[in-house]
Amino acid sequence: MSISNRIADLAHEATEWRRDFHQHPELLFDLPRTSAIVAEKLRAFGCDEVVTGIGRSGVVALIHGSQAGTGKVIGLRSDMDALPLTEITGLAHASRVPGMMHACGHDGHMAMLLGAAKYLAETRNFAGTAALVFQPAEEGGGGAREMIADGMMERFGIQEIYGMHNGIDPAGTFSVRGGPTSAAADRIHILVEGKGGHGAMPHLAADTILAAAQIVIAIQSVVSRNVDPLEAAVVSIGSLNAGHANNVIPHTAELRGTVRTLTKDVQALVEARLREVVEKTAETFGAKATFTYIYGCPMVVNHATEAEHAALAAAAIVGVDNVRRDKPPTMGAEDFSFMLEARPGCMVGIGQGGAFGVHHPAYDFNDEIIPIGISYWAKLVEIRLAA
Ligand code: NI
Repeated sequence: MSISNRIADLAHEATEWRRDFHQHPELLFDLPRTSAIVAEKLRAFGCDEVVTGIGRSGVVALIHGSQAGTGKVIGLRSDMDALPLTEITGLAHASRVPGMMHACGHDGHMAMLLGAAKYLAETRNFAGTAALVFQPAEEGGGGAREMIADGMMERFGIQEIYGMHNGIDPAGTFSVRGGPTSAAADRIHILVEGKGGHGAMPHLAADTILAAAQIVIAIQSVVSRNVDPLEAAVVSIGSLNAGHANNVIPHTAELRGTVRTLTKDVQALVEARLREVVEKTAETFGAKATFTYIYGCPMVVNHATEAEHAALAAAAIVGVDNVRRDKPPTMGAEDFSFMLEARPGCMVGIGQGGAFGVHHPAYDFNDEIIPIGISYWAKLVEIRLAA
């Protein structure tokens, strides 16, 4: 492990910041305390510029290197929001807000990027500019998309963008992969309209429940029969609502679900086939289905060159044997994908171990990896912005 004395010192402070964020979680874009503390610290560290209110509650800080160079700008991103969950850890630094919890480690991500900001503002041992991006609403709010729509990339001249997320791999390891690492998360909504009637006289009705049930079964053939078996896709119906009484055939039924894919081709195929299967299946039962496909967060696709830069920085801290390059993608989603659609870049996984994964009420961020995360960010800047 290659951690400088200065960063080891900084990690103690950063642990205090992390625990303070943990005690005061805030959700989505509604981050008055969190973003104010982030901005205040960035100013206190002597960052050259600190801008608030990007993408509603996002914060961006610029730090210029002291060496002459090409004026290159790279972005480093942390998310800031917590989850609507009640914590059960019983720790001294547990959430003080019932129903809200930093259960995804975004408190740790902020502490690590703030630690890197302090270190980089002190040392400035690079040429060009580091843009530190603190993003709201990662957990389902599309905060990355909002920051980009607000002109973040152009305004700060960001040319490459890097992200980091903790996971249950052992502490002291990273995972870095070019190509897709997490899925596009889209939503489907299906409204089935038949002909309501008396439960005793089905021949006079068009049974929406029977049609809806057949739709649930038939759409599973899209993944198993239409998608190439060597590609990945998931279709899950999470909600099916129809009817209220024993003896009434309801006039409508409503289904909602999620679709996960790792490539644009598979995404387009699944959307087209779902529409066909849903509409034709309803027709078969004398009903009519209105199918709506809602695009959510796109797939995270790391750019190959930037993945190599990230792997180099990670290996400089934990050694090449502790940088996993072959970790399979996940069908979960991450809105850093919007940033990777706007600029080349890479999101890495930082291992933190632990018995509970993210989004669990007993989860806690592992403070022991704070110096590793700070060192990674600092090294990445010094490698990418070398004079
Ligand atoms: Ni997260």
